[in-house]
Amino acid sequence: MPCTVVVGAQWGDEGKGKIVDALSAAADVVARYQGGPNAGHSVIHRGETLVLHLVPSGILHPGRRCLIGNGVVVDPERLREEVDALEARGVPARSQLGISPAAHLILPYHRAVEAVAESGPGAIGTTGRGIGFAYRDKAGRTGLRVSDLFDPGTFAARCDQNLERLRREFPTANLAGLSGASLVERLAPVAAWLRPLVCDVSEELHAALAAGRRVLLEGAQGTLLDLDHGTYPYVTSSAASAAGGPLGVGLGPTVVTDVVGVTKAYTTRVGLGPFPTEMPADEAARLREAGEEYGATTGRPRRCGWLDLPALRHAVRVNGLTRLVVTKLDVLDAFDEVLVAEHYERRGERVRGFPGSARELEGCRPVWRRFPGWRCRTSGARQWSALPEAARRYLEWVERELGVPIASVSVGAEREAEVPRG
Ligand code: IMP
Repeated sequence: MPCTVVVGAQWGDEGKGKIVDALSAAADVVARYQGGPNAGHSVIHRGETLVLHLVPSGILHPGRRCLIGNGVVVDPERLREEVDALEARGVPARSQLGISPAAHLILPYHRAVEAVAESGPGAIGTTGRGIGFAYRDKAGRTGLRVSDLFDPGTFAARCDQNLERLRREFPTANLAGLSGASLVERLAPVAAWLRPLVCDVSEELHAALAAGRRVLLEGAQGTLLDLDHGTYPYVTSSAASAAGGPLGVGLGPTVVTDVVGVTKAYTTRVGLGPFPTEMPADEAARLREAGEEYGATTGRPRRCGWLDLPALRHAVRVNGLTRLVVTKLDVLDAFDEVLVAEHYERRGERVRGFPGSARELEGCRPVWRRFPGWRCRTSGARQWSALPEAARRYLEWVERELGVPIASVSVGAEREAEVPRG
């Protein structure tokens, strides 16, 4: 039965929230598989923009089951705040939500030590949500999981061990007042709130697929922020690419029938790290204003650049993309010329593929392909033929180069601002 993975094909912020919200109309279950509250998925609900950080973007569809898988790192207090905020807007989020007991917890000490790590020379410009340190504990087998919240004695003892270790490693971190006992006390109300939501995500999804229901696995961040396939070390700490989908919810890879890659019609990134197609500051400022390119989680101005084909070819390959969705085409409406990096050069030589490390990528210069701009509004288009010819040429060229069909193009934030590929 259909199991679709939706994945960011760039450095995150491609507009996956809107696409998952749209695809959720035809799905029965939507599950988040990695990342945590570093994500900020914007969806429009009754004319209001809601930013979801941990709750799957299918939540706005009445009755849609939404699951948080084992691959996600959960800050339980933030999750509760997010669900309460949805409920206050009339979305019965709690009744739709389930969470894996194996999802790891982000605890206050993760954020405190990240603040120290990010103030030093190894900073990579994280979102400051404790993501990397929660995943570090997971991989180091010192993490605490959702299920541990319900065993306060062991929880407190493990927190104390972790705090002792972190105080030695990060003597300047603000860990004052934190102890296993204080954390158990602080988290007791949210543990009680969370307990009824805990379910066997793997079993539930397996049963849904066996019963012929449609499952959507929602990725956060993007391929170039994937821990293995991204621009390491300027990456997030999880498997953001499509293979992380089944892994992060407890399914086998053979269930996946479709992988939708979401890309903007240009490129943005937040945080530090190489960005070969980055625009000069004045051009970037123009695009940033047109596209409202400010982080949905942190409010940071996003770095802006042109579309990057070597990066997208890499995304096509490592994700096994079967379809592409191109977002924010309308943001390019006012540009006289639209550029695309066709490939890279390094020291005058053509670079094959996408370099495997940030250091190699830093030396790469884009070789541009230039397209005439269309210089008219695309936001009203609802069919392919209504797009200006110059925009179609641009998109069709990208599609041919990548060898993956474009399923649709988004021309605005609203649900209906979508142009199916004709
Ligand atoms: P972390 O995920 O907070 O550890 O940050 C690691 C890197 O991933 C930084 O460059 C962040 O800016 C970036 N990042 C994390 N989450 C997102 C996201 O949802 N959109 C875009 N960039 C992100």
